[in-house]
Amino acid sequence: MSRTQEAAVTSGAGSAARPDTTAGLRVAEAALRAPSIHNTQPWRWRASAARVDLYADRARQLAVADPDGRNLTISCGAALHQATVAARAHGWSAEITRLPDPGDPDLLATLHLRPGRQLYEAVQDLQALQERRTDRRRFTSWPVPPERLARLAASVGVDQVRVVPVTAAPDRVRVELLVSRATTLVKADRRLADEQRSWLDRSEVDGIPSDLLPGPGAQPPSRSSRFVEEPAEGDVRGAIETSDGLLMIATDTDDAEAWLRTGEALGQLWLHAMNDGLSVVPLSQVIEVDETRTALHHELLGGLLHPQLLVRIGWQEIARSPLPRTPRRPLADVLVAEAPGH
Ligand SMILES: Cc1cc2nc3c(=O)[nH]c(=O)nc-3n(C[C@H](O)[C@H](O)[C@H](O)COP(=O)(O)O)c2cc1C
Repeated sequence: MSRTQEAAVTSGAGSAARPDTTAGLRVAEAALRAPSIHNTQPWRWRASAARVDLYADRARQLAVADPDGRNLTISCGAALHQATVAARAHGWSAEITRLPDPGDPDLLATLHLRPGRQLYEAVQDLQALQERRTDRRRFTSWPVPPERLARLAASVGVDQVRVVPVTAAPDRVRVELLVSRATTLVKADRRLADEQRSWLDRSEVDGIPSDLLPGPGAQPPSRSSRFVEEPAEGDVRGAIETSDGLLMIATDTDDAEAWLRTGEALGQLWLHAMNDGLSVVPLSQVIEVDETRTALHHELLGGLLHPQLLVRIGWQEIARSPLPRTPRRPLADVLVAEAPGH
């Protein structure tokens, strides 16, 4: 069976798979492995037979680095994308209503599950997402051709979101300098640095195990990043010369719906990149810091689009060792009791 063939897997092409009583739970469970800022997993799910509600978990919001909830909502958007892929993989179509209740801004989205067809492609996509990891080891020096970046950017189809390839040399230099500047500013701010550190080696179910992060002595040396204590000397120049791909996910507006859609776009982008053999590392610090976010808005995006998430794209060594997975909370911890009458 070809990778893209829209063939039914178990239910027979054209036959309808009806959501059963555990459908919502299965969708929520499949979304547990979505990426999230510092692996905070800031989501909660209310699941019933044919409907799944996604809530923000404000107790998991980064109070210092993310006071508006941008990264929290982007993370939930990535989980929403993973949930829709899971629904399709189970043979259900999923219709999304974003921010359905103006009186409850924490209810980020509702997924309505309907009978559909189980597609081979969706099963493959879900498998890929379950295997996805943020691999921060330095990419090979093999360049990501600009046409490939452009194709990847164009493959993302989320309304109100633009994925902008950063390919012109002056833009790349400027963006790398801003990434470095943001890292320096955060390291100098005790509250920000302490909050970030509190999510390293946090627990068996959340946070980032520090042995997954390239240490200062990693070979080849890691790029300057929020998790590398001592940025390698000449790192900015090196990043430009070795042509890591850079994509900026941007939106027309700068509100909760834009952030949610950004997360959905991140999920799509990651999936398409993996299918293309490419590795993805989100870089959110340059957006978290007001000074560097404002510079990106004006200097890179002409004051028109709002930068939401920078993404570094590249090729990992083919013979690299497998990276252990980050932990996740169990399904029971993220479920909200079903409302009476649902
Ligand atoms: C909104 C968002 C922002 C992120 N920002 C960064 C970042 O600045 N640097 C980084 O190395 N990883 C970043 N990540 C990746 C997370 O740390 C990662 O998804 C999380 O630790 C779970 O690990 P996994 O992706 O391997 O499952 C970000 C992820 C999301 C969704």
